[in-house]
Amino acid sequence: MNILIAPSEDAFYQLAAMRIAWQIIDRPNAVIGFATGRTTTGIHAALAEIWKQYRFDTSRITVFGMDEVTGVPRTYAGSCYDMLLRQVVEPLEIPMRNYLMPLTVPENMQAECARFNEAIAQRGGIDFQELGIGENGHMGFNQPGTPLDARTHPGEMDERLNRRIHDETGIPDSVHLGGITLGIYEIMQARHIMLCANGKNKADIIEEALFGPVTDRVPTSILQLHPSVDVILDPAAGEKVKKR
Ligand code: GLP
Repeated sequence: MNILIAPSEDAFYQLAAMRIAWQIIDRPNAVIGFATGRTTTGIHAALAEIWKQYRFDTSRITVFGMDEVTGVPRTYAGSCYDMLLRQVVEPLEIPMRNYLMPLTVPENMQAECARFNEAIAQRGGIDFQELGIGENGHMGFNQPGTPLDARTHPGEMDERLNRRIHDETGIPDSVHLGGITLGIYEIMQARHIMLCANGKNKADIIEEALFGPVTDRVPTSILQLHPSVDVILDPAAGEKVKKR
């Protein structure tokens, strides 16, 4: 595991974006999984700027989102589909046929999970997976308590996100919202992983995930067992790690 603590928050976004650009340039037909959230929004903005400047070939990469909210229309601005479309697919001019996402309102959740996995497998499996981390250690919608060998499955979002989506969409509270997430098993099959975290609120969980026991209480701790992980942190998220 390589751990890099960037000298500033801005450098954190730039370095993480450069790592993705490097992956695309190194393997122009790479299959790349993206995460959504505040952390990765900044990284994707930096990546779009880098691409505007250098315009390396993106016509053959495949991109997908590692998780998706379900129960809301795809057109909702908070869907992962919409976020990655605007943050990555459109700015990097990635052909739509190379953009894979689970449906937000599938007829059958389990069947949709299988279809999504199969679509990724048909492209040759995941070369590079970008990951954020939840304050409770979640990866995608793999919440604490998810078995560490879980396959792609319908997961639960955390309460705050759940609340925000209900408020933003006006969907009544009685309607259950959930998510589809790449399983921990599939994440661990990725050839390379980049875990990113910024902000003081992530300092404790980053230390626990990287140096604590590997446990389903902290799903991200499983990355300690992966052979190729780059961890990129800003100074605030890296504060505890730096003291070690
Ligand atoms: C969300 C997403 C994850 C993301 C994480 C961190 O729930 N499902 O894919 O990595 O939480 O989000 P943020 O970067 O906003 O803290």
